Amino acid sequence: MCGIFGYMGRKNALPLLVEGLRRLEYRGYDSTGVAINNGEGIVTHKTVGKVTDLKEILPDHIEGTTGIAHTRWATHGGVTQVNTHPHASSDGAVHLVHNGIIENFRHLRRHLSTSGIECVSETDSEVLVQLIAQELASGSTPLQSVQTTLKRVRGTWGVCIMFRDHDELICARNGSPLIIGQGQNEMFVSSDPHPLTSHTQRVIYLDDGDIAVLTPTSINMTSSVKGRSVEPNVTVLEEAWSESELGDAPHYMHKEIYEQPDALRQCIAGRVDREMGTGRLGGMRLGHETLMQAPHVRLLGCGTANIAAEIGQMLIEKMARIPAVTHISSEFRNNDPVINPKALYLAVSQSGETADTISAVKEIKLKGGQVFGVVNVVGSTIARLCGQGVYIHSGPEQSVASTKAFTNMVAALTVFATQLGRTRHLSKEQGRDIIDHLQQTPHLMEKYFENEGPLHEAVDLLAAAKSVLFLGRGLSASVAREGALKLMELAYIPCLAYPAGEMKHGPIALLEKGSPVVVIAPNDHLKEKTLSALHECKARGAKIILIHDEGDSIAEEGDVSIAVPANHPYLTPLLTVLPLQLLAYHTALRLGRDVDRPRNLAKSVTVE
Ligand code: F6R
Repeated sequence: MCGIFGYMGRKNALPLLVEGLRRLEYRGYDSTGVAINNGEGIVTHKTVGKVTDLKEILPDHIEGTTGIAHTRWATHGGVTQVNTHPHASSDGAVHLVHNGIIENFRHLRRHLSTSGIECVSETDSEVLVQLIAQELASGSTPLQSVQTTLKRVRGTWGVCIMFRDHDELICARNGSPLIIGQGQNEMFVSSDPHPLTSHTQRVIYLDDGDIAVLTPTSINMTSSVKGRSVEPNVTVLEEAWSESELGDAPHYMHKEIYEQPDALRQCIAGRVDREMGTGRLGGMRLGHETLMQAPHVRLLGCGTANIAAEIGQMLIEKMARIPAVTHISSEFRNNDPVINPKALYLAVSQSGETADTISAVKEIKLKGGQVFGVVNVVGSTIARLCGQGVYIHSGPEQSVASTKAFTNMVAALTVFATQLGRTRHLSKEQGRDIIDHLQQTPHLMEKYFENEGPLHEAVDLLAAAKSVLFLGRGLSASVAREGALKLMELAYIPCLAYPAGEMKHGPIALLEKGSPVVVIAPNDHLKEKTLSALHECKARGAKIILIHDEGDSIAEEGDVSIAVPANHPYLTPLLTVLPLQLLAYHTALRLGRDVDRPRNLAKSVTVE
């Protein structure tokens, strides 16, 4: 989604801003721009399209050591050059980049109009810059102008503001992440840690209500929540969070799919106790009492994270025998949920910045519940809001489609389920068996990658399909959902995923001669029942793409059969999802799609 980058220091700003934008590209965007203060005025260049398009219209050199830059993912107003950030006030005194949504912008726009200021763009963001300039023109300082303006707006913001006549950058946060990077006589501002790591490891995460005034050598922060100035809290970023380079891989998605064995090793290293047959998730800070007394577990997430949560839910019920429920984050708060302070709430998110999940976390905390993050990005909003939980340690995930984060979310939740299970119904031997298999899983993933099966025969069927049905039962019903989501978002083919038993209650009507149906049927206690659904599809002329365990005679049932190494029945999703990720990747390529940046999608969805 939208990305912000800002610079103030002694170096020429332009190349730094362009490089910052390049590092924000993975988030997904449709237009981009920069504004630089050259000492005499502010020079702005913006364009619809990619950073490479912007580079084409940029002069070789722009004087100036202070600048702001933005990648826009359209919310209010079409994808046009005028709507692209940075936005400028009518008098040219203030320039601004904004992430988030200003809810009362229509009212504010009318108010500006009555005082003779007409907004030129359709965006909600422009009212901010016009209001700040209005305050400034009435004699307020830059900080006072920003403070007064932010008191008048409702909504969410991460903003970075540059002034023509004042040597300072002001940034502020409310609901949209913003990070300051502190260098030697220079300051950076970014909505994401990735662009900062090549410049500095010293960062300050803004909290909601924070406003920071930056010069190259100073940071002055105030908090509207605390009603006073606050000391910047410097965090040192871990080396591991430097930007991931593509290397020899053709795409980030390809790279990240094949990184899964190593990412999984990272995720479980030091977190399992084989001897006791249990998990050890130190960051959860869960005492025996808390685990024993928890009446139920509720998990939250969006998209792929929601599907991983659903697998976690089933594993918790299987191992710990306590009720567990998964919620779609965007639905959670709206339904005024009842929160039990003894229950355990898990917020699952790769980016840790998903607005829907953040609002669910806030709702739980407001009502006295305890929330644990299951998050990839260190220091992200969800990780900091929860203050406890487990980092899944996938490393940077740059492709919009989530792959290695999915398997690590499932793995982390498996370890959690083992830990919870061992305080209740899971025996030491059962726990040990699961841990042994979990530790073997990276190796089994590698084994699958050595022999991926007839993927291209399956791609022939999928690429020509009007729609695709995915079926599975139990844990594999969730894997079916993930396979459908991946294929749909990357190849733009309508996909439906159903628990196999539910297929005959409606979706079967879609089947025609030759319709591809992807069936996930590992050799577990549900396989025979899944087979009945498979036969019902075949009887209607469907072409079956079957994902099954190596050596299982069920292979004969598929028109295209793809084998994965057999695993513990609780751990099959970690293997059966791999061919589905590859099918989505290869089908998308066959159809000429941009696999790393699918249309309309963003890596981190920071608006509700
Ligand atoms: C699918 C995908 C999205 C994300 C969802 C949640 O490939 O990437 O469905 O899973 O937007 O994002 P996070 O995990 O960052 O909260």
